[in-house]
Amino acid sequence: MCFAGLVVLSVVFAGCRGSEQLRFPAEFKFGAASAAYQVEGAWNVSDKGENIWDRFVHTQPHLIAGRGNGDVACDSYHLWRRDIQMCEELGLDIYRISISWSRLLPTGYPNVISEDGKNYYNNLIDGLLEKGIEPVVTIHHFDLPQSLQDLGGWANPLIADWYVDYAEVVFSLFGDRVTYWVTINEPFILCEATYTEFLVPYYDDPDVGRYLCNKNVLIAHAKAYRLYDERFRSKFNGKLSLSTLFFWFEPAAPEEQEMTDLMFEYWEGRYAHPVYSKEGGWPVKLEKFLDDKARKEGYSQPRLPPFTPEEIDLVRGTYDYFALNHYTTRLVRRLRPEEREVMWPLIGSTELGAIMVHHPSWVTVNDWFALYPEGLRKQLNWLNTTYDLKEIFITENGIPLGPELDDKLRVEYYRSYLEQILLAVHDGVPVTGYTAWTLMDNFEWRSGYTVQFGLYSVNFTDPLRTRTPRTSARYYANVTRTRMLYPQNDVKYRDVLK
Ligand code: BGC
Repeated sequence: MCFAGLVVLSVVFAGCRGSEQLRFPAEFKFGAASAAYQVEGAWNVSDKGENIWDRFVHTQPHLIAGRGNGDVACDSYHLWRRDIQMCEELGLDIYRISISWSRLLPTGYPNVISEDGKNYYNNLIDGLLEKGIEPVVTIHHFDLPQSLQDLGGWANPLIADWYVDYAEVVFSLFGDRVTYWVTINEPFILCEATYTEFLVPYYDDPDVGRYLCNKNVLIAHAKAYRLYDERFRSKFNGKLSLSTLFFWFEPAAPEEQEMTDLMFEYWEGRYAHPVYSKEGGWPVKLEKFLDDKARKEGYSQPRLPPFTPEEIDLVRGTYDYFALNHYTTRLVRRLRPEEREVMWPLIGSTELGAIMVHHPSWVTVNDWFALYPEGLRKQLNWLNTTYDLKEIFITENGIPLGPELDDKLRVEYYRSYLEQILLAVHDGVPVTGYTAWTLMDNFEWRSGYTVQFGLYSVNFTDPLRTRTPRTSARYYANVTRTRMLYPQNDVKYRDVLK
């Protein structure tokens, strides 16, 4: 059956050859995602330990937009049944959650395992499974225990062993019911944004801290992966990856290709090359560029801490699938002399002397976010040809908007990005799942509650934290039910941006 009006689609699919062309494969999993600190609240219930966000929002509230904090957030610690109900309403196959390290291990170490923490995650996981929804579990999503931060956090190489001890507890407690694991969420943001005064712990140490973190995070992930192999894989047969935030980059002009390639290595290569490439280790061009820079600046040590041959082998190949967080596409060009040099990581790279800009034809939402859905298809194809991947799972994709319930632009965002995923599947890219960011509005880090990503709106002034579906929730429920993007009653959304 060809729907009248699907002109664009019939072009991209080179002729409308039937509705099966427009259908997601039966085994494709649809989901939504959230993260512990952003939704749970209950920051000090029972024996929960303090984490770096608890400390930051209480000691430096002026650094969060609107002085928001995660003390209560969506109160999912108490309202998890409603969260599961929302997943059901949306018809989700999966729900991606994260575990709060300091809720499960109040000291940060496995000497104390919180009974209440354990019960909370057991209830959530079991509750999802009872409804036929598979939990995808992120072990660490930005909320390091303060006790470990006090000892240097991700800049201290001992973090790898502290993390593995924590991961071992998580695998032992929940591994029997979880197939998809994300060891660490977005190492790029974890390291890049925290050592350049954007995210917590909010350090200004761009030359050293972020690169120590970069290496330590990879070693921590790899050790947890190897531990899973040794102790848990034969029993539970799960799949592990670390979720990688990738923007798609294109040169702003043909002469910017070299800088764009470097930006790829800086963002994507520093976290993906050591894990997914055949040879492992740091991306070669970037390593040299950064070494030269460090030397010129009078440092005796290279920027990227060298891997030993054993470490290269330890990290290389530690994946069962690729977990991709994709939000947007940026054009890259060199900084002009008159442009300011200090930029937050989503705007450019002071280190590389590069800035990212929007194409004038794109619909833009803010200084770092524009709609260019084709970028996702290109990125998926790039990943598939660059690395040897059996499975790609999109673990985050979403758009920051305002509080309105009738969020037509979000509908168009999801429709057009899902269309590109479907096209990539037709290209032969093994994309097997998708979790929209995010199930409901939540604490958006330094932006507090001033930006909304949710399929459901949350009333943060209501003690009950009432959740209300947006238009996008209805649209997404339609997609998960029909497994198609273009049932006739949705065609109207195609015109939203015109
Ligand atoms: C993070 C989320 C965040 C989202 C939107 C991702 O980088 O994993 O925690 O809320 O982007 O900014």
